[in-house]
Amino acid sequence: MASHNTQSRELARKQQIRPLAGSLLALAIGFGFATAHADDALPKLSTKTPLKVGFAQTESNNPWRLAETKSFKDVAAKCGWQVVMTDANGSNSKQVSDIQGMIAQHVDLLVFPPREEKPLAPIVLQAKKAGIPVILVDRDVDQSVAKAGRDYITFIGSDFIDQGHRAADWLVKATGGKAKIIELEGTTGASAANDRKKGFDEIVAKNPGMTIIASQSGDFARDKGRQVMETLLQAHPDVTAVYAHNDEMALGAIAAIKAAGKQPGKDIQIVTIDGTKGGLDAIAAGELGASVQSSPFFGPLACDVAQRYAKGEKIPTWVKVSDRFYDKSNVQQSMQYGY
Ligand code: AHR
Repeated sequence: MASHNTQSRELARKQQIRPLAGSLLALAIGFGFATAHADDALPKLSTKTPLKVGFAQTESNNPWRLAETKSFKDVAAKCGWQVVMTDANGSNSKQVSDIQGMIAQHVDLLVFPPREEKPLAPIVLQAKKAGIPVILVDRDVDQSVAKAGRDYITFIGSDFIDQGHRAADWLVKATGGKAKIIELEGTTGASAANDRKKGFDEIVAKNPGMTIIASQSGDFARDKGRQVMETLLQAHPDVTAVYAHNDEMALGAIAAIKAAGKQPGKDIQIVTIDGTKGGLDAIAAGELGASVQSSPFFGPLACDVAQRYAKGEKIPTWVKVSDRFYDKSNVQQSMQYGY
């Protein structure tokens, strides 16, 4: 069933623009396409330089997270930001206390990817109460608790449901619509995992020859993905396809499949999401079938949105990021986009 987040994002999707980058966002807002919303109650953002910005990362255990953190480090000087960074090491409660620490330091702006939708929603309200504007990047929070445009400026991120659709569409084609699928889910309770599952499952439901024979969380981590795949392979030796919610778990699954004496890409088709360097290399090696890109480069977009917001411009409640798609047909010329 669609979460509040999903429903609200689907509603938002009908109203939103789809900027490719800051310049397109500027163009769209300039032409007045941005959704009008009651943002009067949102805290204001100063135009001063330097601006003290808190960036609270969820964990740093994969290339995607490292690339996201780097994009904030890289943009800081250009944007006139003095960035305070924390790393929650995969813990919701640490991410909450990291953000509480930033609120106590009176940062001017808070930017973070909420590790899970529900546990990280109340802290958005606390920041608003303390007069600190918030931009959520990558993942969103539970919209029944904290709402974009009312409690925080905006959500900047990909359409995770669409990523699930694109992964499933590829798998339907690659298998002729006949597959017994193991699904390796991301972090339970994360909007990225909820919506990637929803999107993929929607397409599978329309294809009677496709069955999800097992679905379990690998927490977006390579080694957890490998362990879960090892166990599921023993229980389901008839598996013919794997859908992993990110490249790291897919790479873990590839290791497990090889250890079980099967050939990834031949005996078992694999599709995933992220577009990391490791994912692209695995496509080139014929072991991974396809990867839907999920861009981690939020620094420049967040800078652009913050500057516009500080000047008093209306910001859409969802600044949607467009993602590429990689398979054997374009992997060689796409290597430059891996991270
Ligand atoms: O929220 C985005 C997901 O989080 C990425 O796909 C994954 O690699 C990361 O940990």
